[in-house]
Amino acid sequence: MNKLIEMSEIRKTYTGKRYVLDGVDFSLEKGEIAAITGESGSGKSTFLNIVGLLDSFTEGTYLFDGAPVYKNRLNSYYKQRAADIGFVFQAYCLIESISVQENILMPFMYNDKPVNKSLYAQMDELLNELNITALKDKKVALLSGGEKQRTAICRAMIKKPKLIIADEPTGNLDEKNAELVISAFKKISDLGTSVIVVTHNLHLSFGAEKVYALEKGSFRLC
Ligand SMILES: Nc1ncnc2c1ncn2[C@@H]1O[C@H](COP(=O)(O)OP(=O)(O)OP(=O)(O)O)[C@@H](O)[C@H]1O
Ligand SMILES: [Mg+2]
Repeated sequence: MNKLIEMSEIRKTYTGKRYVLDGVDFSLEKGEIAAITGESGSGKSTFLNIVGLLDSFTEGTYLFDGAPVYKNRLNSYYKQRAADIGFVFQAYCLIESISVQENILMPFMYNDKPVNKSLYAQMDELLNELNITALKDKKVALLSGGEKQRTAICRAMIKKPKLIIADEPTGNLDEKNAELVISAFKKISDLGTSVIVVTHNLHLSFGAEKVYALEKGSFRLC
């Protein structure tokens, strides 16, 4: 079983009239990176929310790691979301009033994994990789956009999820820091994590094996 994601003929409407996604076929191997591009409003975040079990779809079939996802039972997937999927959102979704370190370790408070020495060592390695070691004890409220972005990426990566979903993860970063993020994604994908990344910047296609354009509700392989 090497496929992590298998979607067929996925459709999604919010209003009951217009279909934002209108027949999306998508599959992703374990350890594979896919990049998605498309105009503003084309449905990229909608697609990511569905892949990430955060929102339901209207029609179609979806298998996550070989098991069917039932569109009306999203509430039953919260444990799987916490364990298997790391999110990097357009709007960071960090807790501003606590430190970088506390934000990164936050996912472990929701599952039963211990916060031990080896976890701290992994965190330090990630902080170093993304060049934010010096910010470890700083409150998130005091960080720049790009620093918040990299904190969110550490938080998504540290639990070694099956899937990382990243919506414009380099949107706030200069070229040098964007390169750090790309190499961090490549490294985690070599360890078997799959990555789906939305980017407007096609020359930063993240070493993706596949690049898709979302157009008129479905994917075109670029
Ligand atoms: N909760 C919602 N209710 C109704 N319509 C929505 C909702 N969320 C998104 N839409 C609509 O669905 C379409 C796709 O939105 P989506 O956020 O997925 O686009 P996007 O490709 O991520 O855009 P951007 O590049 O600007 O982030 C848009 O027309 C948007 O207005
Ligand atoms: Mg979006």
